[in-house]
Amino acid sequence: MKTVFSGIQPSGEVHLGNYLGAIRNWVALQDQYRCIYCLVDYHALTQTYDVKDMSARVWDVAIDLLALGVDPERSTLFLQSMVPEHTELCWVLNNVTGFGDLERMTQFKDKSGTQADNINVGLFDYPVLQAADILLYKAELVPVGQDQVQHLELARRIARSFNHRWGRVFPECNPLLSSTPKILGLDGQAKMSKSLGNSITLSEPEKSVRKKLARAATDPARVERTDPGDPDKCNVFTLHGFFSDDDTRGWVRQGCTTAGIGCVDCKTKLADNVLAHLGPYYERRAALAADRDRVRDILHAGAEKARAVARRTMDEVRGKLGLWR
Ligand code: TYM
Repeated sequence: MKTVFSGIQPSGEVHLGNYLGAIRNWVALQDQYRCIYCLVDYHALTQTYDVKDMSARVWDVAIDLLALGVDPERSTLFLQSMVPEHTELCWVLNNVTGFGDLERMTQFKDKSGTQADNINVGLFDYPVLQAADILLYKAELVPVGQDQVQHLELARRIARSFNHRWGRVFPECNPLLSSTPKILGLDGQAKMSKSLGNSITLSEPEKSVRKKLARAATDPARVERTDPGDPDKCNVFTLHGFFSDDDTRGWVRQGCTTAGIGCVDCKTKLADNVLAHLGPYYERRAALAADRDRVRDILHAGAEKARAVARRTMDEVRGKLGLWR
């Protein structure tokens, strides 16, 4: 059975981009594969953060993942910092990673721009830790959004370099993209992201979801209600692509291209469908939030399972490196 691995930063609650780009695939893959999912708190250190908020951020993401359907009976869910082999393997992989390769990473370039006061070595080395996350479990499939594809190409190159230099240990991993791998922000400009302040988090109250969607950017050509629009240039239509059925999508396409409906009609329908889709998630989230011990037990049990695999891989790696014991 193939192994699936993926991770998410504990940067607060899961947003629509995370869900549509990655998490819904995490859930769907659980029956077919051995799935390992990780809250990558060590990755989160690369950005400036408030220490007193970190544990709440971890809780929120853990609860969201479980409420969305990550099932601890079928998958391993754990916190990266509870499995120290991640950083250990990262150090080994640093030695087969080209400096120039890391310089070319677009996320590094973007983040160096947005956090110019804190361009640290961790930020630069981030993709190597990500490669270590995946390779530690010899995962072959990695469900992610489009923004992570370049990091996965690098992880493949790193695995190849390791195998070439020290002998074969690691398989090559491949990204697994959803049908909505890139959700734009509500501003329609960049990708949806918590740090850019253009996201809708799943746990937001109904009123806030409706308000944010009502203000979401649409096809820029549709300035007046009477202007026809192009649904394929509209992020709201991308969201309909997942949350609405064929009839509704047909109604939107026809109405938008002929200016038969306004953006308000289209967005109201979308908000109804998003909220209906999230109904079961709201219920499960409330139950989990009231049962913190259960969530803690799940993360501890997950870390134990992950660590058993991670230790085996590191033993194999140390053997290949020729380290003295
Ligand atoms: P992160 O925490 O930024 O996002 C988690 C997952 O959500 C996807 N995603 C999106 N997909 C579509 N549209 C968007 N607007 C959007 N925003 C986020 C991301 O692609 C990701 O799949 N570096 C990773 C975490 C990581 C990881 C790993 C992933 C660490 N180690 C190993 C896979 C394998 C990150 O920061 O994701």
